[in-house]
Amino acid sequence: MPPLHTNLAGIDLRSPVILAAGTCGILDEMRDVIDLGRVGALITKSITPEPREGNQTWRILPAGNAGMLNAIGLANPGLDAFLNSHAPRCAAVPCPVFVSIAGFTTDDYAQCAANIDAYVRDNQGPTTTNIHALELNVSCPNVRTGVEFGHSATLITELLSAVRPLVQTCKLFVKLSPAAPHLQDICRAAINAGADALTLGNTYPAMAIDVNTRTPKLANITGGLSGPAIHPIALKHVYDAHRLHNTPARAAGKPTTPLIALGGIMTWQDAAEFILAGATAIQLGTTLLADPRSPYHITKGLEKWVHKQSRANIAELIGDLRLPGQ
Ligand SMILES: Cc1cc2nc3c(=O)[nH]c(=O)nc-3n(C[C@H](O)[C@H](O)[C@H](O)COP(=O)(O)O)c2cc1C
Repeated sequence: MPPLHTNLAGIDLRSPVILAAGTCGILDEMRDVIDLGRVGALITKSITPEPREGNQTWRILPAGNAGMLNAIGLANPGLDAFLNSHAPRCAAVPCPVFVSIAGFTTDDYAQCAANIDAYVRDNQGPTTTNIHALELNVSCPNVRTGVEFGHSATLITELLSAVRPLVQTCKLFVKLSPAAPHLQDICRAAINAGADALTLGNTYPAMAIDVNTRTPKLANITGGLSGPAIHPIALKHVYDAHRLHNTPARAAGKPTTPLIALGGIMTWQDAAEFILAGATAIQLGTTLLADPRSPYHITKGLEKWVHKQSRANIAELIGDLRLPGQ
C-alpha cells in the first residue's frame, strides 16, 4: 500500500492531506494552481440555505507571525446554486469532495444536509458524484440562544439528532469550535450522537485595532485567528480527544472516531505532530493562502517521514506518541 494511503471513516484517500473549508475556493478553484489529484480531498466553502454576500471589507488581514485574521461572514452561493452549478462538477474533481455546511438554526443545517445527501443518493452515490462527506461547521451562533452550536454539548446533541438521520449516503463529520469551554464534553456529545469523524478545529476569536484611527481593523470588529499561533493549542486538543475518547474505546473493543486535525499547519512537521497526537487526516488552511503549493511540500515531507520511521503506512503512526516512562 502507498505510504500515505489513508482510510478516513470508510473513505479511501490517496493521502491524509486535505484542503480546509473556505481556504481553497467554493469548490475547485485551486485547480489552476495545483494538481488536485495530488491531495487527499478538498472541502468546499461552507454552504448555507440562502446565498450570502458576507461581511464588508476589511474581512481578511495579516496578523504578523501569528497568522491571519478573517471575518468573511460565510459568503457563499447558497444551497440551490450549489446543487445546480457546483454539485454536478464534483464528479470531475480529481480528489474526493467533502461539502461544508453552515447555518444559524438546526433547520438550516438539516435543509442543506438532507438536500445534498439526497443529491448524492439520487445520482448513484459517492463514487459517481465524488461527494463523500458532509462537514458541519458548527462555529455559527444559534439565533435562538445566541450561543455558537459548537460551544454547547446540548446544542450539538440537538443538532445531530436532527441531522444524523437525514444523512444516509454521505459520511457526516463535525467541525468543532476550538475555543469552546469544555471542548472534550462537546467532542463526546458529537461522538455519542453519531458523528463519523470529528474535525478539530476552526479559528480562534480574535481582533486587531488601528491605533491611529482608534478603529477595529476588521469591518466586523472581531474575527477568527488562524495560522502558526494556533497550532500548539490545536495540537493539545487533538491529543486530548485521542487520549480521552479513542484510547479508552479501543481498549474496550469499541469503535473509535477518526480525528481530522487542523490549525496552523505550515510544514510537514506540523502535520506529523497531529498524526502522532492521534489524527487520521489533517487539513491545510492558512498555508494555502501563503503558498498554494504547500500541499506538495507537506505531502512529500510526510512520505519521507513514514519511510524514516520504518513504517509501511502513515496509519501505523496515528497516536504513536512516545510518552516519558513508556
Ligand atoms: C479566509 C478563510 C475562510 C474560511 N472559511 C471557512 C468556512 O467557510 N468554513 C469553515 O468551516 N471554516 C472556514 N475557515 C476556517 C479554516 O477552514 C480553518 O479551520 C482555520 O483557518 C484553521 O486552520 P489554519 O490555521 O490551517 O488556517 C476559513 C478560514 C479562512 C482563513
